[in-house]
Amino acid sequence: MYTTFFSLDENPFSISPNPRYLYKSSQHMDALAHLMHGIAPDGCITLLTGDVGTGKTTISRCFIEQVSESATLGIIINPKASGNELLNLVCKEFGISCSDDQPTSIPELVNQINNYLLDIYRGGGNAILLIDEAQNLDMDSLELLRLLTNLETDTHKLLKIILIGQPELKNILNREGFRQINQRITSRFHLTPFSREDVARYIQHRLQTAGGDKTDRFSKAAVREIHRISSGIPRLINLLCNHCLIGAYAHGVARVNRTIVRRAAQEIFDESMVTPSIFSRPSTIFLTLGLFGVMVVFIEYLLTGQSSLMRIKEQLVTLASRFGALSP
Ligand SMILES: Nc1ncnc2c1ncn2[C@@H]1O[C@H](COP(=O)(O)OP(=O)(O)O)[C@@H](O)[C@H]1O
Ligand SMILES: [Mg+2]
Repeated sequence: MYTTFFSLDENPFSISPNPRYLYKSSQHMDALAHLMHGIAPDGCITLLTGDVGTGKTTISRCFIEQVSESATLGIIINPKASGNELLNLVCKEFGISCSDDQPTSIPELVNQINNYLLDIYRGGGNAILLIDEAQNLDMDSLELLRLLTNLETDTHKLLKIILIGQPELKNILNREGFRQINQRITSRFHLTPFSREDVARYIQHRLQTAGGDKTDRFSKAAVREIHRISSGIPRLINLLCNHCLIGAYAHGVARVNRTIVRRAAQEIFDESMVTPSIFSRPSTIFLTLGLFGVMVVFIEYLLTGQSSLMRIKEQLVTLASRFGALSP
């Protein structure tokens, strides 16, 4: 197995969101701080958004680890439930007993949840409902969540809600019909992909967490290529790096280079992601602009028998001779 070849204890690029592997980029730390801020006494709804694979669930796992001792958590992972199904899910997550056989109405369920939250509050606790993939919540469910944020004492919201989702969640909440819930968002953060520097540090961090030594297993050109192909998205970086290590191992190479990255990328991604756009390199841009300039001058020369370069040269000569005439 390649882990032995690279002296690693385990696969460094597994795609499960394991908090042990957390790379503390400044924005991931900011995101975590926003989640923590969202559960302060004056917090209500916290929103964490980001494209697929940018690390939302990983951050939420770290958050859960940090607060699980001090707060009562309800976690809903993929909320494709509507109306009282969602409230039933909330009850289930908090361990609120509701009878399965008798359908309970929405006001009854809200009442049960309210009583439960009041008990927690009186006991000095903090109740948090975390919903991942919240872009899947339908209109009714979002309205019910808003109802749950109405449960409060004179000074405290009884339930803090954390909504985690893809960028469309922001768009949904910006729609006219969601003004009320939107106004209850007290903290929001949007995760963006890694910069090239972060990609390099991220790869090194994951290798070392998996027991690797300080050897640079990926050349600088390889990292540049990984950043370009993955667009800095951690999940894609993991997929690609894992294939790179397998490729390097198969060829008996101790250090991943750009060719290995390209080959690995061709095995897992669509061709359009792998082939570099001709405009992605500054040298190509300068070359293209240079060629374009030469063509313009040539066409101008063909059409007018003179090119602007020749005119500029003539003007420079005239100017120089005038200066020559002026000088003593
Ligand atoms: N800051 C990070 N540190 C370590 N691994 C990360 C980080 N961010 C993302 N990952 C990795 O990227 C992959 C996708 O992350 P995930 O949290 O599932 O993304 P999302 O929920 O945004 O789709 C996971 O394998 C996870 O381990
Ligand atoms: Mg996720």
